[in-house]
Amino acid sequence: MTARWVLACLLAINIVLSPWAVEAGLGVNWGTVTTHRLPHDTIKQLLQDNGIKKVKIFDADPASMKALAGTGIEVMIAVPNDMLSAMNDHGVATKWVKENVTRYHSAGEVNIKYVGVGNEPFLKSYGSDFLNITFPALKNIQNALNEAGVGNTIKATIPFNADVYESPIYNPVPSAGKFRDDIADLMEQIVKFLSSNGAPIAVNIYPFLSLYQSASFPIDYAFFDGTNSPLLDNGIEYTNLFDANFDTLVSALDKVGFGHLPIMIGEIGWPTDGNANANVTLAERFYSGFLKRLAAKQGTPLRPNTDIDVYLFGLLDEDAKSVAPGDFERHWGIFTYDGQPKFPADLSGGGQMKALVGAKDVKYLTPKWCVLKPDADANGENVSTNVNFACAHADCTALGFGRSCGGLDPRGSISYAFNAYYQMKNQNDESCDFGGLATVSTQNISRGSCFFKLQIVPAPSSASNSFPWSHLLTLFLVIGIWMF
Ligand SMILES: *[C@@H]1O[C@H](CO)[C@@H](O)[C@H](O)[C@H]1NC(C)=O
Ligand SMILES: *[C@@H]1O[C@H](CO)[C@@H](O)[C@H](O)[C@H]1NC(C)=O
Ligand SMILES: *[C@@H]1O[C@H](CO)[C@@H](O)[C@H](O)[C@H]1NC(C)=O
Ligand SMILES: *[C@@H]1O[C@H](CO)[C@@H](O)[C@H](O)[C@H]1NC(C)=O
Ligand SMILES: *[C@@H]1O[C@H](CO)[C@@H](O)[C@H](O)[C@H]1NC(C)=O
Repeated sequence: MTARWVLACLLAINIVLSPWAVEAGLGVNWGTVTTHRLPHDTIKQLLQDNGIKKVKIFDADPASMKALAGTGIEVMIAVPNDMLSAMNDHGVATKWVKENVTRYHSAGEVNIKYVGVGNEPFLKSYGSDFLNITFPALKNIQNALNEAGVGNTIKATIPFNADVYESPIYNPVPSAGKFRDDIADLMEQIVKFLSSNGAPIAVNIYPFLSLYQSASFPIDYAFFDGTNSPLLDNGIEYTNLFDANFDTLVSALDKVGFGHLPIMIGEIGWPTDGNANANVTLAERFYSGFLKRLAAKQGTPLRPNTDIDVYLFGLLDEDAKSVAPGDFERHWGIFTYDGQPKFPADLSGGGQMKALVGAKDVKYLTPKWCVLKPDADANGENVSTNVNFACAHADCTALGFGRSCGGLDPRGSISYAFNAYYQMKNQNDESCDFGGLATVSTQNISRGSCFFKLQIVPAPSSASNSFPWSHLLTLFLVIGIWMF
């Protein structure tokens, strides 16, 4: 046997026996960039009612940790991009791990499995901002986890955007996959480090964005029910973008000698508003196709029969997200801002689309809305200034061609903007004035697909709700001393 063969066999054995193979099952990203948050108990119930087994968050916010505590749900927490630089200091990383991992983990409260280091730090639009500081941060966090004695079960990884390898110029077909030229060496070092620590590589894959970015993209290729324009690659027929994108990464990993590194999908989903291709019908088509494939453990052509580890994006709509990438950014939720399902799905991983369970006992503000006065002139001189003001602060992304409120007449659109602002401001009287153009109405003017928001009662500040950790710790110490 050649040395190459021995290595191949060892790798194969490693895949079968490896304790660090990514545990599959469905996860959901829970982002909190919202003007109003549901109470953590409501979220906890929502997660449990829908059989969600894994949750990924974008920081280590104590309020989020509280919702996840005691649920047994596997959690991926994260170091945000703006903390990467600080994590280049080993002492700071050690403190982060102590405060945000070990204290929850040791008490057995939150089932932390992963730490995401940064979020899409090598995204092309970030330029070189995070290029030099991400890998040192990853090393420091994993080393701090190892030193804290939890490195065997908690792994650090970097959630990448697929643009670290996805490029039609470099990679016309999946088998040509390789990492982007400007970061190729860095990616190779990172992949090597992940592998030596038994961590997976995480990547975010968005067929919706491919469709959004290219008018010539064949729409059926974004879904999972066949296409007239499959991609042919060495005799393999790719009928959907997900498979092609995933296998491009497999090829890129293979080229640097880590073709078997476990791959985790950090984010994948379909938005429901803010763009002509973002609606509930298409989102349901995407999720039903994708979730059935996952449940069937179909894998991809280069990794067939694989249980892929996936975190859907996302749990709830986030009305305060930046719309720089596009207005659809605020509509990625499987559930609406108030925790109500938009379409049937199966978040427990079974693949049988069924009605989801909405958030229970949601508390709303008084049923009243801010509208343009019936006698106000919709073409008056200050109307556009006021609408622009409202929409610069509140969420008006449902307005526009092909969107849920795209069918409103001009008066309706103005009212929509005024109400969005009024609700965001918790129906504060002064927020429904707009130079005398607006008035409060108790008549529900939602119509057709266009929903005039009634905001939820804001959850009390998390500061007063923090865990009595120090007491728990004292208790454990006392028990420990008593036992020995
Ligand atoms: C722990 O995480 C929180 C939330 O992300 C952050 O604000 C805090 O600074 C972190 N703690 C340390 C010691 O870095
Ligand atoms: C990153 O490091 C390289 C090599 O040490 C250096 O040339 C470059 O200026 C650094 N870039 C940034 C953004 O710090
Ligand atoms: C959803 O979007 C697709 C593509 O733009 C469109 O054909 C379809 O009519 C839309 N469905 C609804 C219910 O808006
Ligand atoms: C428009 O706004 C200006 C400045 O606030 C105000 O002086 C003016 O009276 C307004 N015009 C109307 C028609 O309301
Ligand atoms: C307003 O009407 C919409 C659409 O008919 C409905 O979904 C919503 O529940 C109503 N809101 C209230 C507070 O009645």
